[in-house]
Amino acid sequence: MNNKILELQHIKREFVMGTEIVRALKGVTFDVHAGEFITIMGSSGSGKTTLLNILGCLDKPTDGEYLLDNVNVSGLSRNELARLRNHKIGFVFQAYNLLPRTSALENVELPLFYNPELTAKQRKDKALGALESVKLADRGDHTPSQLSGGQQQRVAIARALVNQPVMILADEATGNLDTRTSYEIMALMQDLNQLEGKTIVFVTHEPDIAAFSSRTVMLRDGKVVKDSKNENVRSAKEALEALPPADDY
Ligand SMILES: Nc1ncnc2c1ncn2[C@@H]1O[C@H](COP(=O)(O)OP(=O)(O)OP(=O)(O)O)[C@@H](O)[C@H]1O
Ligand SMILES: [Mg+2]
Repeated sequence: MNNKILELQHIKREFVMGTEIVRALKGVTFDVHAGEFITIMGSSGSGKTTLLNILGCLDKPTDGEYLLDNVNVSGLSRNELARLRNHKIGFVFQAYNLLPRTSALENVELPLFYNPELTAKQRKDKALGALESVKLADRGDHTPSQLSGGQQQRVAIARALVNQPVMILADEATGNLDTRTSYEIMALMQDLNQLEGKTIVFVTHEPDIAAFSSRTVMLRDGKVVKDSKNENVRSAKEALEALPPADDY
């Protein structure tokens, strides 16, 4: 059986800017197996977000082949892509992207409105379940401004999980968070990966965040320059315990 969930072959993405062509991805090739937890690293402008947007079917490559769960996405219509994305992929962004005047529970419910078969009660129950899994069931009534940054990110993760996707794509999801809160998010990611078998592709600038994943793909200037297994995956729970108590800083 082929358990490759992502297959990228010679992926290129070019943006036309007036008379200039920006070559953001210059032939990226790698596979991700189901159940892997990989980080994508690289300096600013190296193509990480461009790549993640293609992986998440938010954007299409200019050239090359992309198979998502053995389906060649280049042949799919816009509607088919949206369906695939909604069923298989949960997104988490650096800026949380929650609706401001909307409760945590309703924010988590949003992706479920694309499924006409669900009743209002079923939507609510699913959203509550997802909030429980990020330990925020008691904050369902709070709007984003009534939550800390880490809690907002956990709501965003609950929203990403509510459709039970097989894969989570995260773009600098700890970029706005302090060390402790970042480690809490990484502990949640490790649980989702290890206990629930979710495949995770996590973009980050920070080597100490990459240490929590089992493989790192390094981009430079639109190309993969390194793709290495991490033999000593760090436990985010242990890293949390090793931090000084919160009051000390
Ligand atoms: N829509 C676009 N139109 C034109 N150029 C773009 C577009 N999106 C990205 N680029 C260019 O492609 C290159 C890669 O951008 P990308 O956003 O993927 O980088 P990144 O690795 O995510 O950087 P950062 O770490 O700063 O988020 C950059 O040179 C950028 O200017
Ligand atoms: Mg980026």
